[in-house]
Amino acid sequence: MKIEKMEYKLKKALDSDRYIHTKGVQETARKMARCFGEDEEKAALAGLLHDCAKCLSLNKMNKVVKDYPVDDIMKESKSLLHAAAGRCLAESVYGVTDPEVLSAIRWHTTGKAGMSRLDKIVYLADIIEPNRKPFTGIEELRALCMKDLDAAMHYALLMSLRHVSEQGKTLHPDTLDALSEYEDVQKLIEIYGGKKHED
Ligand SMILES: [Fe+2]
Ligand SMILES: [Fe+2]
Repeated sequence: MKIEKMEYKLKKALDSDRYIHTKGVQETARKMARCFGEDEEKAALAGLLHDCAKCLSLNKMNKVVKDYPVDDIMKESKSLLHAAAGRCLAESVYGVTDPEVLSAIRWHTTGKAGMSRLDKIVYLADIIEPNRKPFTGIEELRALCMKDLDAAMHYALLMSLRHVSEQGKTLHPDTLDALSEYEDVQKLIEIYGGKKHED
């Protein structure tokens, strides 16, 4: 499918703020890919489609992923499930077949252990795109995102852990797996505590 047709369909599927965010992620992912010598077109495509399921109801998201493996925590959370649902729609509605692009869409919310460089670019571009409401640490993270992908991932994952801990929750297990590549996660859990999952 041509990009123009994807954009036309996305505009109808998303509310205007989400569409603006989407365009921000598309351009930021492209810039980061250029910076790190990754495929710009793949990064931009994954950025464009990463939230394509975001405006569906939880019920509809669950229908979209009915033949796709997702855990029970995800099934109950729109903010987690939209990534897996987006991956499915990217393939079935937007005609994406590239497994690297589909993977970047799938893992853009939780992350996971063993992320590819494209996965990391889209995960980070989602957090730092220029239309994001400013939060503590965003400028430091933006600088890292153009310098060192792994340092940026480490920083972003720790920010995420702090954020959910402040709400008395813990990270999704896939995010803990991602963080365990940079940190002794068991030690962090002892420091931050909390038992419930992110939602
Ligand atoms: Fe998202
Ligand atoms: Fe997003």
